[in-house]
Parts: sequence; C-alpha cells; structure tokens
Amino acid sequence: MNVVDLIRKKRDGKALEKDEIELLISGYTKNKIPDYQFSAFLMSAYLRGMNSKETSYLTNAMLYSGIVLNLDSIPGVKIDKHSTGGVGDKTSLIIAPIAAAAGVKVPMISGRGLGHTGGTLDKLESIPGFRTNLSISEYKRILNKCGAVLIGQTKDIAPADKMIYALRDVTATVESIPLITSSIMSKKLAEGIDGLVLDVKTGNGAFMKKEKDAVALADSLISTAKAFNKKVIAFITNMDQPLGNYIGNWLEVYESILILKGEKRNDLYELCITLAGTMIFLGEKAKTQEQGESIAEELMSNGKAYQKFIEIVNAQGGDIGFIKNPEKYPKPSYKKVIKSSVNGYLKSVNTFELGMAAVELGAGRMKKEDKIDPKAGIIFNYKIGDKIKEGDVIAELFSDKKKSILHVEKRFNNLVEFSDKKIGPPKLIKKIIN
Ligand code: URA
Repeated sequence: MNVVDLIRKKRDGKALEKDEIELLISGYTKNKIPDYQFSAFLMSAYLRGMNSKETSYLTNAMLYSGIVLNLDSIPGVKIDKHSTGGVGDKTSLIIAPIAAAAGVKVPMISGRGLGHTGGTLDKLESIPGFRTNLSISEYKRILNKCGAVLIGQTKDIAPADKMIYALRDVTATVESIPLITSSIMSKKLAEGIDGLVLDVKTGNGAFMKKEKDAVALADSLISTAKAFNKKVIAFITNMDQPLGNYIGNWLEVYESILILKGEKRNDLYELCITLAGTMIFLGEKAKTQEQGESIAEELMSNGKAYQKFIEIVNAQGGDIGFIKNPEKYPKPSYKKVIKSSVNGYLKSVNTFELGMAAVELGAGRMKKEDKIDPKAGIIFNYKIGDKIKEGDVIAELFSDKKKSILHVEKRFNNLVEFSDKKIGPPKLIKKIIN
C-alpha cells in the first residue's frame, strides 16, 4: 500500500479499509507522511465523506495513537462535556468548576481554536502562567485534588488529534461529520471518562449550519460513545449568534468570571446551567437532570463554583491575581467602537464572519504557526430581538493590529441586520437526544 494510492482511493469516493486508515494515521503521527499528503487525504475525506465503518476505524486509530487513561484509582464518577464549536462558546470554563464543586470528577481534554471558532486551550492560556500541557501524573493529581483538570491533546494522549486538528484548522477541512466525530471522540475516550455531555451547535456560526446535519453529527457522536459503553446525552443548541457577549480569549475568560461570580445573566448562563446540571446528573450527584440544574444554580449563587475556578487556575499554574483583579490585564493597543446608525430590532448576525473578524483581530490562527493575541477580540452587546437605537454601541473591537482593526471596523455593519418589526429571541436549546 502506498499513501498516494490511499489518497486516490478516497478521492475517487471508495471506502477505505481498517488497515488502510491505520496506516494513514500511524504514518502521519510518526511524521512519515508529510502535511501536504495528509491534507490531500483530509480534503478527499471531507469532499467524499466516510461511512460509519470508516468513521469508527478512524476514531479507533486516532484513539490508540496514544494511551487510554485509566482513572480507576481516583474515586468518583468522571464526566466531561464537549462542544462541537461555536463563537463565544466558553461554557467549559464555567461548567467544569460547577460540576467539580458538585462532586463530579471532570477530566477535560480540549482543543485550540478551529477555523472561525475559539478553543478552550487558547482561552485558558490567556491566563498568564496557566499550563495546559500537564504530564499524566500532574493531570491525575490535579483531578483528584480539585475535581477538575483541563488540558490539551499531548504526545501521549490523542496525539493524532493534536496533529490533525491543527492541520484541519488551516486547510478548510473542519466541517465534516466523520472528521469531527473522530476528533472529538478520540480525545474524549482517551480521558478515562464514564460519561459525556455533548453540545452540538447548529446555525450560521456552527460547523453544522443545518439542524438536520447537527442531529446527524449528534447521532454519530452518540453511537461512538455508546460503542465504548459511555453514558451520553446530547443537546442541539443555537449558534445563530455568539454565545454570551464576549469573543476572544482573555475577553471570554473575563465573561466567564462575571458569570461565575453571578454578575451577569444571559444565554451563556442559561446554557451553562443546563450543561452543568446534566453533568451533575450523569455524575450521579442528582436524581434527575432538573435537580442537577438546581444544584448548578445554587453553586453559582453561593460562590462555590467561582472558588472552584480559582482553585483549578491556581493548581494549573495560572496567576489568580488576574482572575481576582481582571482590570490589571494588559490592554490592547487599539480599540474601536461600533455604533448603530439605525433604530430597530436586531434581526440577524453573520456569526461565522463575526468569528472570522475575531480571528483577523488576532484571536485565532490563519496558519499553523500563527501566535494568538490573548487580548484581541470583540464585545458584542446585543442579542437577536433586542431593541437598538441610533447611536447605541453595538460592539467594541480590540486588537494590536491597526490595519486589521480598521478593516474589521469598515465591514462590521455588513455583519448585522435590523428590522423595523419586533422579533422574538431564537430558541437556545433546540433538542435533547439521549
Ligand atoms: N471539536 C473538536 O474537538 N474537533 C472538531 O473537529 C470540531 C470540534
């Protein structure tokens, strides 16, 4: 078998065999297949699709590219959550401490920004000193001590996803059900979890724009989780506008602090209660999902979830001085304020382009080697259905790059649409599948 033959086979729409997929994954992770050949394979898989057998071979090959952790020595039910990616989606930073404060163990392996969406690792690393590259023994020690730990794929855990994820980010090969399924499940199954809550996004800021595709992705993720005997519940949630109001790495940590301290209530808060409540239920700390949600609300209002966040940040080397006094965080060189030129109701947001605008400001990568600017991003003040008057501040832009901020400012008005007529807010949670 040679790699060119395998790329050609997929390019021509034929299904690959188990050993062929294993050869591609082990060849790439051992640096025997170069980026340009693997990119060609990814694009062929993206365009031609993969059947459920190929998807499960791919997930397995990626999972066993590294080790599968055994967390039996750590007491408690281990539950994680994963989102398929959106704009302003910072739920992991909020729900991991909530679930841990409820007594659930949360071993979380996350990814970096992907395409127009942000990534949990980049957000956490915007906290000076925060380490996401822990050794396995540190990972276990912090999980046992704090109840939650948040790391990235490593050379030992899900190394294939670490490499393929970075390549997909810059080769326009993200929005594919088999590639997303294998990416998410290879990390999640390696963590040593008992159960998983899935947040599958749909809408113009999601990888799955249509609800039926999001449901198909959820089905694919659920059947993989079940094949490995994991408890699983999936939510299909709206991504037709950013989640919360802050987009960009440190900005999202800042909004998470506000939510955890009970200083802000919005759609982000609502979704966090649902997801954390479900984790608490799957983690056997509540008899029902509703009871889990009440526990989550209580842990937010009594300050225990915020305290847990501080504990986790501290344990992973982050400077908690910036969490307690966020106003001390370095400021970006440039700021621009976008004001409304009309009176009306916010009708729609081009969420994909808003995510791309944040990338352009420095919050994401255009090339693999690009460095993230943790200060860059956008505060988007309104939600669909909100009444806006002429002169109201719709958004604030932050960047160290003058040319980029001027470019985003110039085209910002094309990203939002207004209506004269009153508009209802979109439904946040569209479906639950379990
Ligand atoms: N999240 C992941 O971990 N992988 C994907 O491919 C998309 C979202």
